[in-house]
Parts: sequence; C-alpha cells; structure tokens
Amino acid sequence: MSETDADDHGTEAELRRRRVEGTQRALRAGAGDALVLFPSRNLQYLTGFAESPDERHLLFLVPADGDAAFFAPDLYETQLREETAVAEIRTWSDGEDPVAGVRDLLADCGVRGGHLLVDDTMWATFTQDLRAAAPAASFGLASEVLSELRVRKDAAELDAMRRAAAVADAVVGDLRDLGPDAVGMTEAELSAFIEDRLTERGGSGTSFETIVGSGPNGAKPHHGHGDREIRAGEPIVLDFGTRVDGYPSDQTRTLVFDGEPPARYREVHEVVREAQQAGVAAVGPGVPAEAVDAAAREVIEAAGYGDAFVHRTGHGVGLDVHEEPYAVAGNERELEPGMVLSVEPGIYLPDEFGVRIEDLVVVTEDGCERLNDTDRDWRC
Ligand code: GLY
Ligand code: MN
Ligand code: MN
Repeated sequence: MSETDADDHGTEAELRRRRVEGTQRALRAGAGDALVLFPSRNLQYLTGFAESPDERHLLFLVPADGDAAFFAPDLYETQLREETAVAEIRTWSDGEDPVAGVRDLLADCGVRGGHLLVDDTMWATFTQDLRAAAPAASFGLASEVLSELRVRKDAAELDAMRRAAAVADAVVGDLRDLGPDAVGMTEAELSAFIEDRLTERGGSGTSFETIVGSGPNGAKPHHGHGDREIRAGEPIVLDFGTRVDGYPSDQTRTLVFDGEPPARYREVHEVVREAQQAGVAAVGPGVPAEAVDAAAREVIEAAGYGDAFVHRTGHGVGLDVHEEPYAVAGNERELEPGMVLSVEPGIYLPDEFGVRIEDLVVVTEDGCERLNDTDRDWRC
C-alpha cells in the first residue's frame, strides 16, 4: 500500500467511524437499542461496503453501546476486511443455518428485545428472520436515525456530486452537438449514446434508467426509452445521470434537435423555465421545503397549466437519487446548508409532448449553488 493509499484509508476509516458514532449517539438519545442494516445505501454510508443484496444473510448491527459488527457469508470476509474499517466480522458458511447466527449475534450484543431499527429497504425474508430471532423486540426504520445524518452533505460528498453534475452537463453539450443527426435515431439508440458519453467523460454507470421521452412519450414523466424514432420538430425530454465516487447526478433538459416545434411549445417551455428559475430562487437556509414547490407551482398555475404539473417540484439527492428533503406541499422542514435537492418542474400534455427542466442545487449559507449550469434553452 502506498503512503497515499494509507492516508486515504485512514481518512476514510475515520469518516466511517464518526458516522457510526453519530448513529450510536442518536440511538442512546432514545431512537432505539440497535440498528440493523443489509446491503443498501445506508450500509454504504456507514461502512463504505457497496455490494448489492442477494439471498444470503449479510447484516450489519450497530448496538447503542459497544462495537458494531458484520454478520456475513464467509465468501465476503476478505472484501469486508479490505473495504471497511469494521473490526468485528462474524461469518457463516453455505450449509450452516444463518438464522441461528443472527440469534447469537443479537444475544451477544444484548439486543434480543428492545427496539430495533431495520434498514428501510431490507427484504422481507430477512426482516422475518430478525423477528424470529428477536421475538420480544419492537421494530422501526433505520431512516429514523440515518436520514438525519445523511441529509447534510460534507465537503467530499459535495465534491463528488459537483463532478457527477459536470459530467452530465458535458453530455448535454454532446447532445446539442448532435443536432439534426439525432433525427431518425430511436430513443434507445439515443439513450445508449448518452450512457456511452457519461462513461467516456468519467462517470460510473447510470444513476437511474435514462429517460428519452420523444414527442408524446415526453408527456409521461418517467417514460424510460423505447423503439420510437425521433422526428424533426419533436420536443425530447432528456433526463439522465451518472455516479462519481458513488454519488449521483440527476438533470433534465428538453431539446428539439431539428425543425419547428408544435405551436404551444415555445410558450410551455418558457413557463417551465420561469418556474424552474423561481424554484431555484426560493432555495435558501431556513426556507421550508414546501416553499420551493409553491414558488415553482405558482408560475405554472398562473400560466394556466397547473393541472399539467403532475408531480412535486423536487427531491433531495445523496447516495440515493431520491431522499430527504422533498420539495413537496406539506413538507415544512426547513432547508439547511449542505442539503442537496433537485428543482424540476414540468408541464405534461398527454398525446402531445412534455417539458421538464431539472438542476441540482446545494443549499449554502446565503442561498444556493447550482450544481448543473448548462444552457436551459430548447434549441440545439
Ligand atoms: N429521473 C427521476 C427524477 O428526476 O427524479
Ligand atoms: Mn431527473
Ligand atoms: Mn430528479
């Protein structure tokens, strides 16, 4: 290991240790007796271990007091020792009964009763086994503790998200450069073009299914991509993202690659653009998240398209592409420096077209910083 690797590992280990300690402080303050995670973004946040779940029991237990421990299939042992700073790693082998191991782990940590906070996305099969292993326990969700820790991003997290946003912004430039060449491509071909460029420019994979909503498909906000060919004069909703150092980007532009757009399109695009600007302008410390939604929605309602704005204005972004804080009516939670959220109003006209414009912003001490800053115009 080089000196630099050792330094990085030291810093990384220290970061994860602080996060586990923060979790234990919240547990001791009354949130519960232990946290139980499985392979998830929560586990990645606390330990750095980022594999996908499978049918084998792989759990991470954080008791309110004492040492956190992995309970994992032995085929992961080397990886867990190399990739995490967790000292206590209990393993089990194929052919053994993992539920007995879970029971022993909980008993040894003194948490067979009490209140256990389980990973929000934990598969039912594992929660069933936890219930069997701790029949006297009550259960809550890990997010009751972890979303509060995760919601404000530190400098390294923000740096990763800035870089991921820059990659996506550069790919918007690549799309504009295509111009008329995009006409005749299918949505799937354009999606492959986007994903290739994201990788070439330094991103890792996609942060969600790439959206290429051509013409009437753009009026379905979460249409992915299909075999429909892009035609001249059609608005195309392009919503995509990639990851850098594990952190995602998420941005949308609506472009017309060639030709004259439909009659109402110029007006609709302008309304969405103004709404998006109003939403971004509303972001700042102490502002209730719902005020961001209201600011964008007011513009769209005033233009007579309120019924065509069929979703909230935005969502927080971190290791999960959708997380707290949600910019939605009823969310009175005040924004704080370090929070990252999307501002993404849209107007969707069924059977005609859709328009959405989306940027990520980070809340600062006196307003916000846009992570995406490419042109929002629809012309290439
Ligand atoms: N691509 C999904 C979203 O913007 O939330
Ligand atoms: Mn998006
Ligand atoms: Mn989004």
